[in-house]
Amino acid sequence: MHIFKEIEPLRAFLDEKRKSGLSIGLVPTMGALHAGHLSLIEASKRDNSITICSIFVNPIQFNNPKDFQAYPRFLEKDIALLTQAGCSALFCPEDYTMQTGAYLQVSFGDLEKSMEGSFRPGHFNGVVKVVAKLFHIVEPDTAYFGQKDWQQFVIIRTLVEELKFNVKLSVVETVREADGLALSSRNQRLTDSQRKQAVVLSATLNESRQKLLAGDSIAGIKGLARNKFEAQAGLALEYLEVVNSENLLPLKSVEEADRPILCIAAFVDEVRLIDNMFL
Ligand code: PAF
Repeated sequence: MHIFKEIEPLRAFLDEKRKSGLSIGLVPTMGALHAGHLSLIEASKRDNSITICSIFVNPIQFNNPKDFQAYPRFLEKDIALLTQAGCSALFCPEDYTMQTGAYLQVSFGDLEKSMEGSFRPGHFNGVVKVVAKLFHIVEPDTAYFGQKDWQQFVIIRTLVEELKFNVKLSVVETVREADGLALSSRNQRLTDSQRKQAVVLSATLNESRQKLLAGDSIAGIKGLARNKFEAQAGLALEYLEVVNSENLLPLKSVEEADRPILCIAAFVDEVRLIDNMFL
């Protein structure tokens, strides 16, 4: 696997590939890779001749400096995993290479009024600035994102549509542990007992989904979820929302949207996790 830390050598490598008519898939990540990331790599390898993974823990998308400091970083292990997975190239720039000016502020209106947008002010501004930069550097044919960050996917899709980026987007289903916990780099911060508690996120989504399908109200399932989280020390529910998966507007009843999605964010002690499921 080729490893690039600087932009120009990476561009030269990719230009060469493009001239030979090869297609390029991009998998943007923040490292601490797991089977979820590897499923994005697999999807890219299926669709493209060249797959490039980026690893950059983007400081400007963390609204909480402690979360940024504590974010798991395992570059050597990640390189081994990517090599084994048959990834063609890795772009792992230093902060100074990706440095973003402080002036441009991007906002997505209603798309970021709920959920991650409202609980993590500035988060999507940071995500979009780094993703746009990666799109300009790599100029991929297709870029791959996980469904676990559904709001992020909708926002990046909007960026691509509104600014006419010449890139196709692909969203890949969430990979789960046997007990249902969605894979996340942040899971690596959980102790054994926190790990056991963390299953409450996917369990709550599953249970809420069943209840909605059986005719329960959205207000009803939200109340049950609050009680469930309040009953266990160490857990704090930030939100459980049922939104229209296209425009992310919160729903009062599931009939209001063609494709509702249930989204959850919660703390297991100091580790913040998110998950979602389509109805
Ligand atoms: O989903 C992530 O890991 C990050 O938000 C991304 C898309 C790599 C941007 O830093």
